[in-house]
Amino acid sequence: MNTSESKVGPLIDEAEKKLKNISATPRLDAEILLAKALGTNRFGLFTKYNEEAGKEAAELFASFLERRINFEPVAYITNEKEFFEDTFFVDNRVLIPRPESEFIVEKAAALLKNTEKSDVLDICCGSGCIGLSVKRASGCRLTLSDISADAVEVAKINAARLFPGSTDISFVQSDLFGTISGKFDIITANPPYLSENDMKNFVVKELGFEPENAFFGGRTGFEITGKILGSVHSFLKTGGYFITELGFEGSDFINKNYENLELTEIIKDYSGINRAAVFRKTL
Ligand SMILES: C[S@@+](CC[C@H](N)C(=O)[O-])C[C@H]1O[C@@H](n2cnc3c(N)ncnc32)[C@H](O)[C@@H]1O
Repeated sequence: MNTSESKVGPLIDEAEKKLKNISATPRLDAEILLAKALGTNRFGLFTKYNEEAGKEAAELFASFLERRINFEPVAYITNEKEFFEDTFFVDNRVLIPRPESEFIVEKAAALLKNTEKSDVLDICCGSGCIGLSVKRASGCRLTLSDISADAVEVAKINAARLFPGSTDISFVQSDLFGTISGKFDIITANPPYLSENDMKNFVVKELGFEPENAFFGGRTGFEITGKILGSVHSFLKTGGYFITELGFEGSDFINKNYENLELTEIIKDYSGINRAAVFRKTL
């Protein structure tokens, strides 16, 4: 690509063609990447359609495109992903937030409506997107935890960017509840839930860039969720709620009896798939 004299519109058209066999959204990807290279947003691009991108931006865009052609996700190239009401910093230390996880945030916010300041724990927090969004919606005190020290670092970056100076967000590196103390009104989780077979079949191309421990939930995919369900009651206040995202077969497992927990709701997504389960601590 001649990067020295390229207009914005043709740069997008050319990139779209190159990404056709790589991405399900080639034009969108091209627009986001060029907007990032130009230091603007997608709407800003439309006003520049007939303008020269400039040598520096065109070269940066070409390097972004190269990475995308090698299947790197757009969010890792731009280091940002929108989720709920905010834009989160992301890199390959954490899962890229998915829109379906917003169901957990909406449920938590609805349960916390009209309550005094509450205590929320987001385990398996990754970038912190779920917990920080619950804080955005409810003003809760928040604990973010993950087994990965790298993920906790990224969650800290997001907390500092989205809630500068906040003194009621804490961070714990913990294997599930291993080093967690205290009791919470709400615990949220989007645990890893892919099975051994899912890992082989689905974690290829783009998904291969994301951390393996963000996906692998044990042989059946339910091992980590099962462990959480076995002990979450010890960390909930009576009447508190645990909201967890479900894997493909998750709803086959959750009807078991778990100590001091009742299943109160299964949340379906817009395609009718069981997305999340809500449990209430009974005693
Ligand atoms: C599916 S990702 C979810 C990340 C984030 N909550 C989100 O929704 O984008 C799962 C996260 O669980 C973490 N994890 C995996 N095993 C864990 C364990 N035993 N204890 C705590 N966290 C764990 C991974 O490091 C990863 O960040």
